[in-house]
Order: sequence, then C-alpha cells, then structure tokens
Amino acid sequence: MRSLLSLADIDDRTLAALVDRAVVLGRTPQPEQTLAGKSVGIYFRRSSTRTRTAFWSAAVRLGAHAISYGPDDLQLVTGESLEDTGRVLGNYLDILVARTNDDMAELRGLARSGELSIVNALTAYEHPTQALADLAMLTEEFGSLDGRELLYVGEGNSTAAALALATAHVPGFRLTVVTPPGYGMPDEVLPLVEEIGGSTHGVTQTHDLASVDRTVDAVYTARWQTMGVQHADQEWMKAFLPYQVTTGLLDRLSKDDTIFMHDLPAMRGEEVVDEVLDGPRSRAWRQAYHKMTAAMAVLEWCAAA
Ligand code: CP
Repeated sequence: MRSLLSLADIDDRTLAALVDRAVVLGRTPQPEQTLAGKSVGIYFRRSSTRTRTAFWSAAVRLGAHAISYGPDDLQLVTGESLEDTGRVLGNYLDILVARTNDDMAELRGLARSGELSIVNALTAYEHPTQALADLAMLTEEFGSLDGRELLYVGEGNSTAAALALATAHVPGFRLTVVTPPGYGMPDEVLPLVEEIGGSTHGVTQTHDLASVDRTVDAVYTARWQTMGVQHADQEWMKAFLPYQVTTGLLDRLSKDDTIFMHDLPAMRGEEVVDEVLDGPRSRAWRQAYHKMTAAMAVLEWCAAA
C-alpha cells in the first residue's frame, strides 16, 4: 500500500506529479471517478475546518465513499492497539486520512499492518498535504516554481517544516524561513532537507527579518500558536510581534506580482493584519481551495498503488 506520512519519504518526481495533478484537478469541475468503489476513512483527533472537509469532499468528488471518525470514535481510546486497528480497518477501507497528536508514531502504528494506505493530515512536526496545496497554488499562480522564492515568516511549525521538505524536492525553487529565536523548525528538518536536496537545496532559516533585503515572489505566514496550543513562555507574544506581516513589511518585500499566503486559520491582528489578509495580494482563499485539489491528487496516488 502507498502511504503519505512524510514528504521525506517520496521522491522528486512523485512530488512534482502530485503538485501538477492538483493544478489540473483545480481546473476540472467534474473529475473522472478515479476512486469509484473505494472507501476512505477520515480520522481526526484534533480540530480542523479545511483539511478534514477537503479530504471528505475530495473522496466524494472522485467517486469514493467516505466515513469520518472524531477523536473518541475508535476503540483506540479504550486501549485497542494501533496495529490491530489498522489491520481491522484494512478490511473495510482503502485509505485512512489521519490527524494525530504526536510526532508520527500513531500514523506509523496504523500503517504497520500494511492493510491500508495512511495519509498524514497533520502531525506535531509536519503537514505534508498543506505544502502540496501551497505548491499547487504557487504553480497555478506563476506557471512554474522555477526561479521563484517563497519567504515564510512566523513560527517554524508543521507547515514550515513541510514547506522546507517540499522545497528540497524542487530544484530552482527557494524557501527562506524567518522565525523568532527559539521558535525555529524542528532540529531534524534541515538535515532531512539536505538528504533530499543535496548541497544545492533551496532552504534557508534565519531569525533576522532585516537581513531579507530583497523582494520575493510570495510572503507566507501562519498562526503563531499552531492548533491554538499555548507556548510555554508567557511572554511569547513579545518575541513574535516583530514578525507580524503588516502592509509595510509586505510592501518592502514585494515586486508587482508578489503574493501573500496563509494556510489558515488566521488570528487576525496577530501574525497578519486585515489589510494584508483581505488585500489584493492575498491568495489565502485560493490556497484553501487547493487543499481539496491536493487531497484529490494524494487519494488518487494512494489508490493507484
Ligand atoms: N490549514 C489547515 O490545516 O487547516 P485546518 O486545521 O482547518 O484543517
């Protein structure tokens, strides 16, 4: 079975094919029923507006049946093992899309039976389908990723990590991640980026926003407290405020066709001001649309194995 647990697990060609397929599906109002007869489970242990609905809608649009489980619905909460759960669900489902609480151990446990495909819909350290949606949106916007630069400003969270891993798969595309000190990407991300992209990978991380003294193609931010989880430091907001995307910052970094991106949900007035999120450069809403096209591409890829 093909699973998508991490973008570190796939090769450059697969990532490019998933992104390109999402772009094509984005302009295909009535796609072929490529998942006819398939069953997709959608198991979310954490809240979600976009990803959960996008996968449900993606499954239905491609002709599959979908069943959704909330955090307390499976016997996992009464102690059934992940391995047994995966083995049993493999009798009924072809693919299980899961959002968990941890660093991937739950997903790996569910996948261990080998009886069904597992898709990572966000773990503590990676949000792979978000990055696929984002690259699809960028490809649609610019025609190609080649020669483009994305500037990510904010917490080095699961979205930033997924963008870094995705960028390592795309020669000619660059990502600069700017985070407050102490809030960078997880330590394992940059070594993985090097493993994927070699010495010419296009990912840089810094804490110094002033050092970005050039214009870029896209400016991206995300919520400063992922999933609303409180930072341990009570004073965390002071560290983040200099990284807020204001009209002044966006103007400084922009050329004529620079766009603004946000994975949503937004905390308006924290990581971004209304004038930017609702402004003419914003593509946040188109990104949200591509959550569904990326979900369709991933489900097709899993089902084709
Ligand atoms: N961007 C994103 O993953 O949104 P949800 O948490 O609403 O799924």
